[in-house]
Amino acid sequence: MSTAGGVRRVFRLAVLASGSGSNLQAIIDLLHGRSIAASAGAPGSEPIIEVALVVSDVPGARALERAREAGIATLICPFDHKTTRVEHDIAMAAAIREVDADLVVLAGYMRLVSPQFVHVFAGRVINLHPALLPAFPGTTSIDDALRYGVKVTGVTVHFVDEGLDTGPIIAQRAVRVFEDDTHDSLAERIHAVEHELLPETIRLIAAGRVRAPLPGDRVVQVDWDADDDGSR
Ligand code: GRF
Repeated sequence: MSTAGGVRRVFRLAVLASGSGSNLQAIIDLLHGRSIAASAGAPGSEPIIEVALVVSDVPGARALERAREAGIATLICPFDHKTTRVEHDIAMAAAIREVDADLVVLAGYMRLVSPQFVHVFAGRVINLHPALLPAFPGTTSIDDALRYGVKVTGVTVHFVDEGLDTGPIIAQRAVRVFEDDTHDSLAERIHAVEHELLPETIRLIAAGRVRAPLPGDRVVQVDWDADDDGSR
């Protein structure tokens, strides 16, 4: 986070997205360029959140267009057979470090980042997942929830560790599953919740209200707003 005269000023995000980028859009609409109260009674410590860079592994991703429309720098980091995942991620990490990102947000980034990438940004990478983890990890969570017949699914925002959707959970919110739900109808309600929960969680992190667990622990301490316990 950049400072001026000891006062925190800008909290920079790097957002990684592979597809439509509707969650990136929610971040742009609700957070980008806005000042966020760090904590009640702490005037002068209100960081402005800025999306400093949007990275995609998919050259034609709509997320890149959304970033360009908002005047945000973009980077395309496609995978090819000549480069290993680690080499790819080290190059991507270098670009993210250049913009001095405080937080890396995986918002529909459909690749598993390497342990080396996680290590570079230790405790500063979060992921959005369309299910209540640890239920239904992976890339087919919405269909898995429908097939399994659960009555409640939801959305999770978690810190990224070296596993697939296994990192410490920061925030979750439930979404009911109805008997006549299709993939599209359930996905629509899940996305609507994602578009609220992800920006809210980023705001809390930027405000210093999320404490990552100590090594060996999984419990994330979150100082929720008075009217919110994070599970609504
Ligand atoms: C979201 O449902 C997110 O949970 C999952 O990928 C989807 C991305 O959607 N990881 P969008 O690209 O933000 O519209």
